[in-house]
Amino acid sequence: MHENSVLNPERIPRHVAIIMDGNGRWAKQRNLPRIMGHKAGTESVKNIVKSARELNLEVLTLYAFSIENWKRPSFEVQGLMTLLKTFLKSELQNLLDKNISLRCIGEIEKLPPDVQKILLQVIEDTARNAEGKEGLILNLALSYGSRSEILRAARIMAEKCVSGQFDPEDISEKLFASHLYTAGLPDPDLLIRTGGESRLSNFLLWQLSYAELYITETMWPDFNAERFFEALKYFQGRERRFGQTSEQLQAE
Ligand code: FPP
Repeated sequence: MHENSVLNPERIPRHVAIIMDGNGRWAKQRNLPRIMGHKAGTESVKNIVKSARELNLEVLTLYAFSIENWKRPSFEVQGLMTLLKTFLKSELQNLLDKNISLRCIGEIEKLPPDVQKILLQVIEDTARNAEGKEGLILNLALSYGSRSEILRAARIMAEKCVSGQFDPEDISEKLFASHLYTAGLPDPDLLIRTGGESRLSNFLLWQLSYAELYITETMWPDFNAERFFEALKYFQGRERRFGQTSEQLQAE
């Protein structure tokens, strides 16, 4: 029996977001340099993208590099940028073959020019994927911070008010969301955090309002398809009430 046969195909989340934590600790436990943890973490990224596609998820958002991560030692930052570049180059064909469209959220202009170049190239080359019913959007959060994203949206909307494109009273949740990096994407239904910490770490603060949270002690390099199914099974066992009562939901 394949592990995913226990999942209800009718209740696969549309959008899963993941905080990929624990690479450093995974490496430390093995007396390896931290970058080896990130390298092993890249293999987990490939495995989870494959699973997400097979399970027909619409969107998978991965927190690959936060704004705060710029403060790490420069060799670690450089190592992560190199891993990202290698990943993008080596995965392009796979993304095309599997009908996966790459997107990114965050302050991309802060990434080194060579990383920006390959990133934008892969985004452009895969832009026509996942347009129909089938296909996955792989959304990488890079140089991402949620407060900064919200401030950016507020600033753009303020400028639009000043220039008369709309009035302050026109600002609704829908209009606000359309000014975030995630405009057009459904909100995540499930947030997975590996590495055992129960924090949001400035990730998708607006978009995660109604998400189910799943925290696992498993370090990101050890997170595999089986662990992913466990998280999805947990999600399927939850009743999502969106503020209503169970009785109201059952009556619907
Ligand atoms: C957190 O672990 C992880 C990161 C800061 C980077 C995540 C990057 C990857 C998985 C690889 C590159 C990404 C792609 C998309 C190819 P940590 O270093 O904070 O771990 P720790 O808490 O154990 O120290």
